[in-house]
Amino acid sequence: MNDPLLEVENLKKYFTFTRGLVRRKTYYLRAVDNVSFTLQRKRTLGVVGESGCGKTTLGKTLVTLYKPDSGKILLHPDENTTLDVVNANDDELKQIRRTVQMVFQDPHSSLNPRWPVKNIVGEPLDILKLARGRKERENMVIDLLDEVGLKPEHLNRYPHEFSGGQRQRIGIARALASDPDLVVLDEPTSAVDVSVQAQVLNLLKELQEKKSMAYLFISHDLGVVHHMSDEIAVQYLGEIVEHGDSENVFNEPLHPYTKALLSALPVPDPEFEAHKRRIILKGTLPNAVSPPKGCRFHTRCPELVDEYKCKNECPRLKEVSKGHKVACWIYDD
Ligand SMILES: Nc1ncnc2c1ncn2[C@@H]1O[C@H](COP(=O)(O)OP(=O)(O)O)[C@@H](O)[C@H]1O
Ligand SMILES: [Mg+2]
Repeated sequence: MNDPLLEVENLKKYFTFTRGLVRRKTYYLRAVDNVSFTLQRKRTLGVVGESGCGKTTLGKTLVTLYKPDSGKILLHPDENTTLDVVNANDDELKQIRRTVQMVFQDPHSSLNPRWPVKNIVGEPLDILKLARGRKERENMVIDLLDEVGLKPEHLNRYPHEFSGGQRQRIGIARALASDPDLVVLDEPTSAVDVSVQAQVLNLLKELQEKKSMAYLFISHDLGVVHHMSDEIAVQYLGEIVEHGDSENVFNEPLHPYTKALLSALPVPDPEFEAHKRRIILKGTLPNAVSPPKGCRFHTRCPELVDEYKCKNECPRLKEVSKGHKVACWIYDD
């Protein structure tokens, strides 16, 4: 299978800010640092990492909400078309926004509270001029609501009249309006009751199958990411430190950070739970403005292999078995 939809190469998104009144100094916060991956059509790549690791920034950069500082984003809506997302002109941007959509983490703040559902879901149809006339627009919105399990009587209601799960369905309907090939799902169930989480995740899986979409599925929860994804990329302080097939990353994690994320998950089998070694990470996530030298994870790593190397040299992402890459000096030979 080699049908890439999205190619990302050495992507960097730094936030800058200045401090000091007299001697102003500029600081760089490396939210996304040197990220590369390829996503095939109709597949799901899960991106996992603690809060603050740069997952949302990566998603927003991919959907053109942020301009990257450097790197390449190439989109292939079909086999014969390549869109250069970073250097796109206005016409190309329109095509990119049709092809790629994002569902945001918090539907409270991402859905305009003063708009009824028909405007929220219909807006992309207007911007991209996808409906001919009012009647067709209304029918398209009704169809979109139906696809996410909402009803025509919801058309004139406002976001606050819905439950968390329903609000997330409205966000999904809006993302589907342009019939995208790729949807970035940013923690789509984090604002939803645990009891409705599975329903939203199942809906997303059904829609993906029906509409042949690819997903970039972002979550801090490795269990949910494993459930949803074909491949998993683990992000730590802006960088991808492990990437491979979902089963390999979940069942045979290589990076000490991935092992720690995995060991933090609850296990349904109590006997196994009793024998499981819980890896408690030292300290909190370091500041991305001055990340640790060498391997960024060394300050919290329980498995330092070579003090000098781990603390001073930055390991590169390297393939250690077929399709399974890791950035860690343990796997250096
Ligand atoms: N708009 C912004 N301006 C400045 N810093 C930001 C902005 N958005 C995110 N950051 C910083 O970038 C880093 C990554 O944030 P984010 O992408 O939201 O991570 P995640 O989604 O993994 O929690 C954090 O240190 C965060 O404080
Ligand atoms: Mg986030």
